[in-house]
Amino acid sequence: MMGSFKKEVAQGLGTHPKTLPSKYFYNKKGDALFVEIMNLPEYYLTRSEMDIFKTKSLQLIDSFEVEPNIYFELIELGAGDGSKTKELLKKLDALNYSFDYYPIDISANALTLLKKDINTVLPNVSVKIQQGDYFEVLNSLKESKNPKVILFLGSNIGNMTDEQASLFIYNLGNNLQEGDKLLLGVDLIKSKEIVLPAYNDSKGITAAFNLNLLQRINEELEGDFNLTNFEHLPEYNEKEGIAKSFIVSTTDQTVKIKALDASYHFVKGEKIHTEISRKYNDALIDKIISDTDFTIGDKIMDSKKYFADYILTRN
Ligand code: AVJ
Repeated sequence: MMGSFKKEVAQGLGTHPKTLPSKYFYNKKGDALFVEIMNLPEYYLTRSEMDIFKTKSLQLIDSFEVEPNIYFELIELGAGDGSKTKELLKKLDALNYSFDYYPIDISANALTLLKKDINTVLPNVSVKIQQGDYFEVLNSLKESKNPKVILFLGSNIGNMTDEQASLFIYNLGNNLQEGDKLLLGVDLIKSKEIVLPAYNDSKGITAAFNLNLLQRINEELEGDFNLTNFEHLPEYNEKEGIAKSFIVSTTDQTVKIKALDASYHFVKGEKIHTEISRKYNDALIDKIISDTDFTIGDKIMDSKKYFADYILTRN
């Protein structure tokens, strides 16, 4: 992890326009800031998908096409805090479905906390935590041949380009069998008035989340970024449907990063592109899965129609 951070920072800051990968937001501080983001009034995504899991869990289960008496595996990519999944688990448990829940995550700590939390409320749900890379774990679960339902929630796929998303879903398909399901949770394209504030909250939490990348470079790669000389800049254009986050240099400055043995010059107003958060519609989902082995089944939305859980079936 350390090695690739160093490499990717060098690569991103060495290109024009400068970029930094959003996956590095999530260190300890970044994880905590993201929890704060999910609780912000402006960040509607989590609440919208929670609305689906709270009020439409029966519809979700129906769309999985599983039977209470036939064992299946419920596999979640990224553990998160499990609050949405817990709603689904409650329903499956109440209806006596036969299943194991496999949350996959890089963080062993997050998984241990998640299992403890779920089993406090739902002592009968079998939680089989899987620490590691998504595809490594899926490859090991592939052996079982039991019916599988994969959860990929929270519009996490939105940090990928459409090409990366297609390849990711294609690779998921390679680890599944005919009839298996993928529940893909995505934020829908909507007006700037709603989307932009979600990435530019009034408390400045999203700004701190974005700028934490520079802090992380200071801490892990001996950088000397002066965070007061940089600002958070979000952009969103409804036609394109992609929210983009940048860090802008507010002055002409040179930053030294010791571990890279390099210096980087920034002119006033120069941007570092740090994240895309793609928003979707049916046509985009169609296009993204067109070269994969999946077909779209149900589309389940929250009451405001801000967010959709698409149920894809492996052909
Ligand atoms: C966790 C990728 C869904 O893009 O909306 C939140 C991350 N970035 N605020 C998103 C994020 C800025 C979030 N995802």
